[in-house]
Amino acid sequence: MKRLKMGLIGAGGICENRHIPIYQELKHQVELYGVHDVNQSRAEEVAERHGIKNVYENYQDMLSHVDAVTICTPNKFHEAIAVDALNSGVHVLCEKPMAMDRAEGERMLLAAEENDRILMIGYHYRFMDSVMLAKQSMADVGAPIVTRVEAMRQRKVPGWGVFINKELQGGGSLIDWGCHLLDTALWLVLPSKPVEVSAQVYQKLSKQSEQVNDWGAYNHEAVDVDDHVSAYIRFDDQSTLLFECSWAANIKSDKTALSISGETGGVNVFPYELYQPKYGRMMETTTKTFDDEYRAARLQAENFLDACSGNGTLKSRPEDALAVTKIIDAIYRSSEEGKSISIV
Ligand SMILES: NC(=O)c1ccc[n+]([C@@H]2O[C@H](COP(=O)([O-])OP(=O)(O)OC[C@H]3O[C@@H](n4cnc5c(N)ncnc54)[C@H](O)[C@@H]3O)[C@@H](O)[C@H]2O)c1
Repeated sequence: MKRLKMGLIGAGGICENRHIPIYQELKHQVELYGVHDVNQSRAEEVAERHGIKNVYENYQDMLSHVDAVTICTPNKFHEAIAVDALNSGVHVLCEKPMAMDRAEGERMLLAAEENDRILMIGYHYRFMDSVMLAKQSMADVGAPIVTRVEAMRQRKVPGWGVFINKELQGGGSLIDWGCHLLDTALWLVLPSKPVEVSAQVYQKLSKQSEQVNDWGAYNHEAVDVDDHVSAYIRFDDQSTLLFECSWAANIKSDKTALSISGETGGVNVFPYELYQPKYGRMMETTTKTFDDEYRAARLQAENFLDACSGNGTLKSRPEDALAVTKIIDAIYRSSEEGKSISIV
């Protein structure tokens, strides 16, 4: 089988610690061909450490040599780089979130469609064992009634890199962390379609000078992104999603929770449990699952590489990622404008 030539754009933490080792494990399918980072010495170090032959001073020069790129830059640059790559006939795996806002996401999707190239956004939670099992279980759950999402971290503001910088990231706890569980929940309840969002966004705890932060000290004055978000999302079939996320909460411990009560059953995702009325009582089904983010990201990479080679379809479609971006956009707008926002 012909190996895909892969270019890496943005050679920071997620690129080096997740994508590079995974592509190296999949070397029968993919060759790490080149790397670019605005910080040239960072690109050179990463290339040297991992035996990547070509370092490019600008990513455009790399595009004519590769079949696909993996974009791991701050969110502000996702759209421009993805659109350039797609317009050059190159497939794109772009880290989450898709883009800073809805308009950017729409341009990315259009570029993928117009050029007939694969565009995948790195929402790897979909590839977690318990999430895939929950997806299969939706036949038993039936039409969703209420979905509950809690993406909650106790006092873990990521103060390194650019995560607290609105201009470069577009937001904080929601666009960085809550987006994973939003994507997962929206995927599970498909074809229910979100139609209206009412939300409140907060920037309280991470601005306090007295810091208690498990992930180290950060410049509280520089924080200009959300640290808490709550939202109420209505769907076209009258089902609803109750959403809360935070990376700085005053809570007992971290909580990653997603559950759906449907018309014929209910499912809890982390850990996986299925609830069904049967034999005149409520039955509970549990099983062992392998919920490891690295494993999920490897399955994601395999799905991307297969789709690029024309073997199989994407499990994580760019249309779905755009739906997440539309909700994120609507959450920020709802809070700013103090009213519900319709999603069309
Ligand atoms: N899927 C996940 O769970 C997950 C986890 C972490 C990060 N991410 C995403 O990955 C992206 C990068 O995050 P990170 O943690 O690796 O950040 P990072 O700060 O460690 O790395 C970003 C790298 O991009 C480079 N860069 C900045 N601007 C650039 C540009 N215009 N062109 C090329 N390179 C540029 C920086 O020099 C840096 O080396 C973000 O979009 C983030 O949301 C996803």
